[in-house]
Amino acid sequence: MSPSASLSSGANAPLRFLADPLTHAPLFAAQGLVKRFGGLLATDHVDITVLPGEVHALIGPNGAGKSTLVNLISGLLPADDGQLVLDGVDLTRLAPHQRVRYGLSRCFQVTSIFRGDTVRDNLLLAAQAHAGSSFGCLGVRSEEPALRETALALAEKVGLTDALDRIAGTLPHGAQRKLDVALALAARPKLLLLDEPMAGMGPEDSLRMVELIDRLRADTAILLIEHDMDAVFQLADRISVLVYGRVLTCGNAAHIQGHPEVQAVYLGTEAT
Ligand SMILES: Nc1ncnc2c1ncn2[C@@H]1O[C@H](COP(=O)(O)OP(=O)(O)OP(=O)(O)O)[C@@H](O)[C@H]1O
Ligand SMILES: [Mg+2]
Repeated sequence: MSPSASLSSGANAPLRFLADPLTHAPLFAAQGLVKRFGGLLATDHVDITVLPGEVHALIGPNGAGKSTLVNLISGLLPADDGQLVLDGVDLTRLAPHQRVRYGLSRCFQVTSIFRGDTVRDNLLLAAQAHAGSSFGCLGVRSEEPALRETALALAEKVGLTDALDRIAGTLPHGAQRKLDVALALAARPKLLLLDEPMAGMGPEDSLRMVELIDRLRADTAILLIEHDMDAVFQLADRISVLVYGRVLTCGNAAHIQGHPEVQAVYLGTEAT
């Protein structure tokens, strides 16, 4: 898939740095991350940081290694080398579910929702799963007021209050995506990983998703992979450009838009 807008779009987007990347301790750091698939170096000594309150976008052409990087961070794939630290905790050797417990959450592109259950039950289950042992583990304890409150708050957060009684699998694509985000938020993440949240959406749903991600920055830092450049330039405090598994450059929208090598990659003039 190619970027859906030119690099010059979003030039007037407000600069929104909450923290100076040079002086502020990062919330999350990946250092020297390496992943090989046979002879292919899909992740080539990647360093990336996410600051508190930051939306950090990861862009790059097809096959650049963006999803691989997200899979390494979430623990779905084991890294061959490197280190991952979130809020002072070394995640490198932890299983995915342990990483979630330490504040790392990701969206699974709709695959994590229970399609035959209502939105409410999906949210109750997610709230219960992350509420600790105090609520037990035998079915949804929907009578539990604290869980109901959490489920409602999650629905409100993503704009699904009107759809609470709908069967999740019958929701339009955009609403299913929102539910997926809500399920990830149930873990109360410090860092939320979003891999192409606008994929397959029309312009109206994309706009709603941009608004949602913008609201989420008050609750969690976000690492966002997205091909929609308008969305990236609107949302991202910093952008890292991945090419052939390496970080080509990292900076704000103006830096990325003015970077000749990035232009070359996106205009396809780079030697292949
Ligand atoms: N499980 C795997 N086994 C072998 N090679 C893989 C595997 N996963 C990814 N690759 C390869 O690693 C490289 C990076 O792929 P990745 O899916 O991370 O790219 P991407 O930047 O997410 O691309 P896209 O924009 O198309 O989603 C590609 O060359 C891909 O073919
Ligand atoms: Mg990908």
